[in-house]
Amino acid sequence: MPKPKVFVTRLIPAKGLDLIREFCDADVWPDELPPSYEEILRRVRDVEGLVSLLTDKIDAGLMDAGPRLKVLSNMAVGVDNVDVPAATARKLPVGNTPGVLTDATADQTFALLLASARRVVEGEKYVRSGLWVTWGPQLLLGADFVGATLGIVGFGRIGQAVAKRAQGFDLRVIYHDPAAQPAFGASPVDLDTLLHESDFVSVHVPLTSATHHLVNPAFLAKMKPNAILVNTSRGGVLDQSALYDALKSKQIFAAALDVTDPEPLPSTHPLLELENCLIVPHLGSASKHTRDMMSFLAAQNLIAGLKGERLPNCVNPEVYKS
Ligand code: DGY
Repeated sequence: MPKPKVFVTRLIPAKGLDLIREFCDADVWPDELPPSYEEILRRVRDVEGLVSLLTDKIDAGLMDAGPRLKVLSNMAVGVDNVDVPAATARKLPVGNTPGVLTDATADQTFALLLASARRVVEGEKYVRSGLWVTWGPQLLLGADFVGATLGIVGFGRIGQAVAKRAQGFDLRVIYHDPAAQPAFGASPVDLDTLLHESDFVSVHVPLTSATHHLVNPAFLAKMKPNAILVNTSRGGVLDQSALYDALKSKQIFAAALDVTDPEPLPSTHPLLELENCLIVPHLGSASKHTRDMMSFLAAQNLIAGLKGERLPNCVNPEVYKS
């Protein structure tokens, strides 16, 4: 019996890729840069399964280019790169990788928050550029954690894991998420209260049409002048030109971004000129074990879909209703 053909859009960790290769005839894109849309279009023509990353746009046209497709497996928890309604309309299950990246992303949120509050990157640049001449009583002063308020926007798995870590730092934690129950000592509040009271605001919502540019001029105007904004969700949740204005005019103290729109941010982007904006290249889930597990879950989803079984992690379970 021939193995089902699949296309994997990048060299993913062996934990998942070995499993895929055991069950499938896998065409794996070998380059560091992702395949172009046209390349994916060409390669899905005769495959039954596709493993994509958040860098791949998986739209209706691409689904139609692969008439034999049985499953779309995205190696990410976020699926904003996939047109899920189009997949559902074609009865194509879409898999994602929730849970396994919760802790790594919450850790990264705290790394960014601490680095921004205590001006770690500015300090490092200061030393390397030879500016450090003495201990200074007013040198690079940052924000205190104990007794400060952390506001979490979006209190799902990752937002809650951030709240859990915040307990260890003696932060007061409030959150805004009408769909979530209180946990880890965090109290629910409306968004305006959260923005008015928080010294640190961390965003943990998926990117949808409802959350696109949730962080806009009005949002930023409600934040405290000493506030730090952290975004480890998706770049599109934040209006970057509004953030630039708020940081440049010191309307807020600082921002730390794991994600931008687009990714990568062009090297001439104005945000990169600002000392009070820390930007890293979408590293929220970038730990060895986490990426191993993401690739493994993506492989499990793929193989289940190829076998006609229910995906262990399916974002559109409606496809199973007859
Ligand atoms: C995801 O899985 O959606 C993350 O953004 C990857 O880092």
